[in-house]
Amino acid sequence: MAENQFTTHADLFDLRGKYALVTGGTKGIGMMIARGLLQAGARVVISSRDADTCAQAQRSLAGFGDVRAIPADLSSYDECQRLADLVKAGSERLDILVNNAGAMWREPLETFPEEAWDTVLDLNLKAPFRLVQALLPALRRAGTADDPARIINIGSIAAIHVAESPNYSYAGSKAALHQLTRVLARELGPQHVTVNAVAPGPFPSQMMAATLEAVGDTIAAKAPLRRLGRDDDMAGIAVFLASRAGSYLTGTIIPSDGGIATTATGT
Ligand SMILES: NC(=O)c1ccc[n+]([C@@H]2O[C@H](COP(=O)([O-])OP(=O)(O)OC[C@H]3O[C@@H](n4cnc5c(N)ncnc54)[C@H](OP(=O)(O)O)[C@@H]3O)[C@@H](O)[C@H]2O)c1
Repeated sequence: MAENQFTTHADLFDLRGKYALVTGGTKGIGMMIARGLLQAGARVVISSRDADTCAQAQRSLAGFGDVRAIPADLSSYDECQRLADLVKAGSERLDILVNNAGAMWREPLETFPEEAWDTVLDLNLKAPFRLVQALLPALRRAGTADDPARIINIGSIAAIHVAESPNYSYAGSKAALHQLTRVLARELGPQHVTVNAVAPGPFPSQMMAATLEAVGDTIAAKAPLRRLGRDDDMAGIAVFLASRAGSYLTGTIIPSDGGIATTATGT
């Protein structure tokens, strides 16, 4: 599009013709994002470990558009490569990479095990980096100066404020992912690839089920916007970042938290 021409409202958020990968797209936040991208017209690959869960998620998203689920355990280097190869087999251009799959490990400081570092860092930090490496040729092919390819990393407000429960490796992994987002944004901007992160607050999901069951009402009551996150909050921000509307942002960490971390007083 030429400079200073206006696009229509519908075109601003239109993802028809775009090809996207959403890791961990079979549940929770990943599924919210996959649904939003599909509704905006993108063709979407979702992925997680279990084949049955993948098949079930593909069935439940199929009504929204062209979706394909590929099982892969992204905690291993080889599986990241295999998934990337299968994604590239679907198209030589990848317009949108959403690094969403993540794991949390809560345990007191005294007993926090080595495994809790390896498991969490492998999936939350190393897998996004490995997927960027493996998919970069396809992202470069998709991006143009007017309409860059997009990498969207799902971080957390646990890397913006200090959560009450102990989550040492999780908070560390998300802080590292936020900084990796900025580092990659600087390098990939000139190659027509934007890199941004979304830092969610509390959204209902399997990862948050026990916490929200126990204290969800309290968390919502204390949040400045007095509620938890909803599917549309996450779908909307992903569509914004993936579409023409978000094409001039890179290196940002966008909290979607109802004000919980963004307005924390520290008292
Ligand atoms: N929900 C929140 O309130 C919240 C807040 C801040 C940040 N986040 C972040 O949002 C992202 C999604 O979290 P969620 O709350 O939606 O969690 P979730 O419901 O547990 O979903 C996590 C997704 O990742 C997949 N996954 C887990 N381990 C995997 C592995 N080794 N390889 C491939 N896929 C794997 C899961 O599928 P399988 O288990 O079937 O493999 C699932 O699809 C995470 O990065 C999380 O840190 C969530």
